[in-house]
Amino acid sequence: MSDHATSSAASASVPLIPHTAVVPAAGLGTRFLPATKTVPKELLPVVDTPGIELVAEEAKSAGAERLLIVTSPGKDGVVAHFVEDLVLEHTLSSRGKEAMLAKVRNAPSLLEVASVVQDKPLGLGHAIGCVEADLADDEDAIAVLLPDDLVLPGGVLGRMAQARARFGGSVLCAIEVPDEKISAYGVFDVTEADPASPDVKRVRGMVEKPARQDAPSNLAAAGRYILDRKIFDALRETEPGAGGELQITDAIALLIEQGEPVHVVVHTGSRHDLGNPGGYLKAAVDFALDRDDYGPDLRSWLVERLADS
Ligand code: UTP
Repeated sequence: MSDHATSSAASASVPLIPHTAVVPAAGLGTRFLPATKTVPKELLPVVDTPGIELVAEEAKSAGAERLLIVTSPGKDGVVAHFVEDLVLEHTLSSRGKEAMLAKVRNAPSLLEVASVVQDKPLGLGHAIGCVEADLADDEDAIAVLLPDDLVLPGGVLGRMAQARARFGGSVLCAIEVPDEKISAYGVFDVTEADPASPDVKRVRGMVEKPARQDAPSNLAAAGRYILDRKIFDALRETEPGAGGELQITDAIALLIEQGEPVHVVVHTGSRHDLGNPGGYLKAAVDFALDRDDYGPDLRSWLVERLADS
C-alpha cells in the first residue's frame, strides 16, 4: 500500500481510494458531432456544470487528492476549466456577483490538477497507459473515472476501495441492466466473492456487447475503476483491437487470465451516460428537475409539452 494510503488510512480507519484520480478526456466524441468539432464533450454542461467537474467532485468526495486529466491536442479547454481565471474572478467580484464567483472558483479549488497528452485517440486502454510515467513510485493503484458516466448517488468509489483493501487487485463498478438492454454494454461474468458481501463479486471474464441470450449476467460495466498498477504491464502485453484501439477491457481480461484478483462492486443507484445526446438530455432534465431555480418551471412545461404530444 502506498504512503498516501497508509498515513491517511490510519487516521480514518477506512481504506482510501488511490491518491490519483485519472480522468480520460482525449476521445473524439464522435457521437456528439457537430458540437464536439470545437467544444470538448467533457465540457458540455449538465444544466450549468460540465460533466468533468461533476466527476472531479465525486473523486474529491471519495478522498482522491490529485486529478490527472488525459487530454489531446486541441482540447486545452478541458484542463483550462480547472485553472483559476483571475480576470473573470475580479470582474465578477467587482460587480458583486458572489454566487457566480463561487461557481467559477469551484473547479480549480477541488484537487491538485495535472494533465498528460494522448497524441492520438488510440482507445481508453491507451489513454490510461499514458499516465504511468506521471505517477509517483509509491502509487500502487489509480482510480479512473470516465467523465461521460455519472454514477449516482456518489459513494461507490469508497466501496470499491474497501473491496480492494479486502480482496486486493483491481475493482470495477457494475450496474444491473434489464435483459432487453444488456446487449449495449460490456457485461461481467461473475462468481460469488463472499456470501457476507453480496454486492461484491469476483470477475471471471467480460463480454463486450453480447447478444441477449449470450450475456453471462445482467451486470454491466459503469465508468469507475480502481486499477492495480499491474494494469500497465497488462496494457503493454495487450494487442490493439478493432479500429487499432487498445481496450481497457482486454487488459483487464489479461489480468484475470494471469490470476490477478478482479472484482466488481454492484452499484444500486442510477447512472447517466453523457456520451450520447439521448443520455445527455436525460441527465440534464434529471439534474434540472432537482434544482430550485429551474426545476418547478421545467416540470410544469414538461407536463404541458407531454400532454400536447
Ligand atoms: P468514449 O468511447 O465514450 O469516448 O470513451 P469517445 O471515443 O470520445 O466517444 P465517441 O465514441 O467518439 O462518441 C470514454 C472516455 O474515454 C476517453 C473519452 O474522452 C471519454 O471520456 N477516451 C477515449 C480517451 O481519453 N482516449 C481515447 O482514445 C478514447
